[in-house]
Amino acid sequence: MTTITLNNGVEIPQLGFGTAAIDEWQEDNSYVTDTILKAMSIGYRHFDTAAVYGNERALGRAIRDSGLPRQELFITSKVWDTEQGRGTAAAFERSLERLQLDYLDLYLIHWPVPPYTRETWEAMEELYDEKKVRALGLSNFRKSDIEQIATFARVRPTCNQIELHPYLTQREMVDYCQFHKLAVVCWSPLGSGSWSGVPATEKPIVDPVIIQMAQKHGVTAGQIILKWNIQQHRIAIPKAESLDHIRKNFLLYDFELSEEEIKAIDSLNRYHRFGADPDVAHEINKKVPVPD
Ligand SMILES: NC(=O)c1ccc[n+]([C@@H]2O[C@H](COP(=O)([O-])OP(=O)(O)OC[C@H]3O[C@@H](n4cnc5c(N)ncnc54)[C@H](OP(=O)(O)O)[C@@H]3O)[C@@H](O)[C@H]2O)c1
Repeated sequence: MTTITLNNGVEIPQLGFGTAAIDEWQEDNSYVTDTILKAMSIGYRHFDTAAVYGNERALGRAIRDSGLPRQELFITSKVWDTEQGRGTAAAFERSLERLQLDYLDLYLIHWPVPPYTRETWEAMEELYDEKKVRALGLSNFRKSDIEQIATFARVRPTCNQIELHPYLTQREMVDYCQFHKLAVVCWSPLGSGSWSGVPATEKPIVDPVIIQMAQKHGVTAGQIILKWNIQQHRIAIPKAESLDHIRKNFLLYDFELSEEEIKAIDSLNRYHRFGADPDVAHEINKKVPVPD
């Protein structure tokens, strides 16, 4: 498994496992735990959750039941809009408690809420100082949000987790992040999970350019898209429930895309978001509470 070294020296596995809406949105049951255990048995060690996914307990049970040493795992969680600002430290503690962990590898601001960002980040810096989290990061931050944080951050953000797939290549944001030494973590790398309601027929996994490349390399369309990220030094966190998907998404090292193939995927960009736009997301997010 290849890793990327974050700007504070912490190593993050380039391929992670997304956990949003395994089974259903905010399900926290044994099926979720078993799906994560399957991913662990195949070799995934990096898991992406968030307080609002409502599945931190299921991930915590999987960590415990797997018997894997804690230091072999890389666990990310995120502070939700309604818990930012003054509520950040308590939200972090609740995440730790649900996960049954005593530290996180990465803690992110889930969505930018500029009036709260300073208070949220300063609370996260304290958690970092106390060694309760190994790296701090951002998610869905726009250039202006990153510029805002740069004016006061004592601890630098290490990454920005953004929606990124062949129909939303985010070239400008990727260049900006790479220039500022922020790792790029791609969410919905395959074009989103069941939570989005987007039919599979509209996703890049059925794009003819990608299907043709998959046939040429004897792999799946999902593998092509994930490899396109990995070869460009990005981190991808695909979610999958089917054992076949979980397994295939992990097998990315027996083939290589050419420069021309990478460019051909880049050129599929349509500036199309399957998820929310950070310009308006908070208006919706603030009405969504974090489940207990
Ligand atoms: N920071 C944020 O705001 C944010 C927002 C959204 C998501 N995320 C994170 O990003 C993760 C991934 O995003 P996502 O869950 O939206 O979607 P995704 O990973 O792009 O796509 C998941 C969907 O693709 C299917 N799939 C998986 N592997 C496949 C393959 N090889 N071939 C064909 N289909 C395949 C899955 O099917 P099956 O499940 O049936 O196998 C599932 O329906 C989330 O789980 C979450 O951790 C973060």
